[in-house]
Amino acid sequence: MNEGAFKDTFDRDSLVPLLNTKKLGRDQNLIILEEIDSTNEEIKRRTAGGAGEGLTIFADLQTRGKGRRGRTWVNPSGFNLAFSIMLRPPIPLEDASMITIISALSFAGAIRRITGEEALIKWPNDIVLHGKKTAGILTELVPSGDVPGYLILGTGINVNTPSFPEELKETATSLFLETGRHISRPELASECLNEFERRYEAFLKDKDLSGFKAEYESLCVNTGKEVFVLDPKGEYKGIAEGINNKGNLLVRREDGSLENIYAGEVSVRGIYGYA
Ligand code: BTN
Repeated sequence: MNEGAFKDTFDRDSLVPLLNTKKLGRDQNLIILEEIDSTNEEIKRRTAGGAGEGLTIFADLQTRGKGRRGRTWVNPSGFNLAFSIMLRPPIPLEDASMITIISALSFAGAIRRITGEEALIKWPNDIVLHGKKTAGILTELVPSGDVPGYLILGTGINVNTPSFPEELKETATSLFLETGRHISRPELASECLNEFERRYEAFLKDKDLSGFKAEYESLCVNTGKEVFVLDPKGEYKGIAEGINNKGNLLVRREDGSLENIYAGEVSVRGIYGYA
């Protein structure tokens, strides 16, 4: 068999027996599509049609997959995971980015359990393996007055992609490329949903990140490192000291002042490359 052409089956029958969630991906909350423009957009359409919290949509192929900052998210069919989860968190709109932090912790945890590799997080929510990005999360908020009407957590994980175009090779990778093993998509997907629901329920009790901060900081590649902050008001360097209870990155500038960085406004990168 051509090693690079491994494509496993991903359907209801392979996924559902592995789920231990209460709401996520349960019964009518699970939709698996062969092809769609974007799973985030499909969530919006189905939510407008009355879908309930926990709706989870997977697609093998997205024709208009969306990344953060208006970028596109491309993934070849048969190799990867692209899925979106719809939530209705009872929290103020400005706190919704905390859920992104929790999702990154959950999906990094799932990748660690399934691969045995040290999956880390680049703030706020890229998942990196050996310094390269292997998963990204796009959170979209659909407001209703001053509370989130609902929130979409859209996640792409490069699972078994055998190669990347030249221009991405330095920064992007897949679990297959980093481990040398083909990873079961149903096993990884179920672990992602199981882990995320467990943490989301715990988060809803405190409604802040106090219970997750230490774990996040220990997995965050930026903690204690020099970062370059790409702020539209002016770029600067500093040392990332950790996150606060809302998930903002705390960066100590060269002049000693402490910046509180909100993920929606700026991005950071390592001084010596992507992570
Ligand atoms: C990023 O830029 O890092 C975020 C990428 C998010 C991609 C996922 S794939 C499933 C969901 N649907 C989309 O259109 N985008 C997200």
